[in-house]
Amino acid sequence: MPISYFQCSHCGRKFEPETVTYTCLTCCGNLDAHFSFEENPSEVNQAAVVESREASIWRYAPLLAVFDPGFETMPIHRVGFTPVYQPEILRKKLGLETLFIKDESGNPSASFKDRASAIVVSRAIETDVETIIAASTGNAGAALACMAACVGKRAIILAPRTALPAKIAQLLTYGAQVILVDGNYDDAFNLSIAASNEFGWYNRNTAYNPYTVEGKKTAGLEIWEQVLRHLPSGSDLNVFIPVGDGNILSGIAKGFLDLLALRWINKLPRLIGVQAEGSGAIYNAFIQKSNRVEAVKANTIADSINVDLPRDGLRALKRVRESNGFFITVSDEQILTAIPQLGSAGLFVEPAAAAAYAGLVKALQTNQIDPSTPALVLATGSGLKDVRAAMQSVQPAPIIEPRLEKLKEVLSV
Ligand SMILES: Cc1ncc(COP(=O)(O)O)c(C=O)c1O
Ligand SMILES: [Zn+2]
Repeated sequence: MPISYFQCSHCGRKFEPETVTYTCLTCCGNLDAHFSFEENPSEVNQAAVVESREASIWRYAPLLAVFDPGFETMPIHRVGFTPVYQPEILRKKLGLETLFIKDESGNPSASFKDRASAIVVSRAIETDVETIIAASTGNAGAALACMAACVGKRAIILAPRTALPAKIAQLLTYGAQVILVDGNYDDAFNLSIAASNEFGWYNRNTAYNPYTVEGKKTAGLEIWEQVLRHLPSGSDLNVFIPVGDGNILSGIAKGFLDLLALRWINKLPRLIGVQAEGSGAIYNAFIQKSNRVEAVKANTIADSINVDLPRDGLRALKRVRESNGFFITVSDEQILTAIPQLGSAGLFVEPAAAAAYAGLVKALQTNQIDPSTPALVLATGSGLKDVRAAMQSVQPAPIIEPRLEKLKEVLSV
């Protein structure tokens, strides 16, 4: 569905869709796309969406900002419509009445970020752009490199030189041009904008390109379809989301806002943004009741949420407040503890995803949520992305001589 107009989430200025590409021309705030279905909900047929046999983000095509490029040939690999599990072992352990975990690791490049990249690359197809650049700690870049490879577009990825080996390996094998920056994610971010301005490449940066939120909103739509629709009417839902730049949170909120406009839901689920203690810029603003997000010197084991200055901080702050939610921080130790806890339910996650679960654990311990309210944790990325952190979170396996007595000895049987 074509975008009717963009509106700045900060100053409220509206823009015709073709007059702006990235952020607000007045205040550089993040832009929200708006659609005619907000005024005319009958434009979208709910039954057609729910009955769709397309098990991907494209089941929501009537709500998306780009056309499905692969209706016949599916050039973009299958993204989204990820499973939601209800692990009994964790629910009991936490003393929760209802627990949902949405597992994003099955996306083509093994993280949530494929949602945004699929939409940005579809936009590049629509506008005939050949080269797309992004700055990334790894996942957004891997997602872009993957989606660009599917359709033969050129991807240039700027990543901090400290990016994790698995993520760099993905970038390189997808055939992207990878440049490692001797600096952090924020440095790579600024350099990528200078480069796209200089060379005219399309920039996919999180929270800079407004199509990223339009991709990420599909997770909000799925949470509605897979969870909210099946809860008793009027039921609350606490949604735990790991936060770096704040764009995943803003995206999920955008999905819920579209659903509210369509009147498919009548209230917003409660958004709970989880930041690492060592990277808590938005949390700080929330606690100080401030409308300014000040940069921190970020340092956390969860590389995907290790951000000095969150690029979507203000909007994420606003969306959390609108939903009556809150921000919470978790320590690296709590993040590491959460990895094998999720593992015990058959889920293998990277530290950023574990942070969301650690946020739920802490919110329950500190009585910030009611255990009788259903909770959903967004597990945003696969544990294969950061094997070192996974190994750090568990006891090493014993090594024995290949003899039965030795096996009995270590198993104490
Ligand atoms: C696995 C994972 N979780 C969470 C996040 C945080 O998302 P955002 O930076 O939009 O807040 C990222 C971002 O890279 C990610 O890759
Ligand atoms: Zn503005």
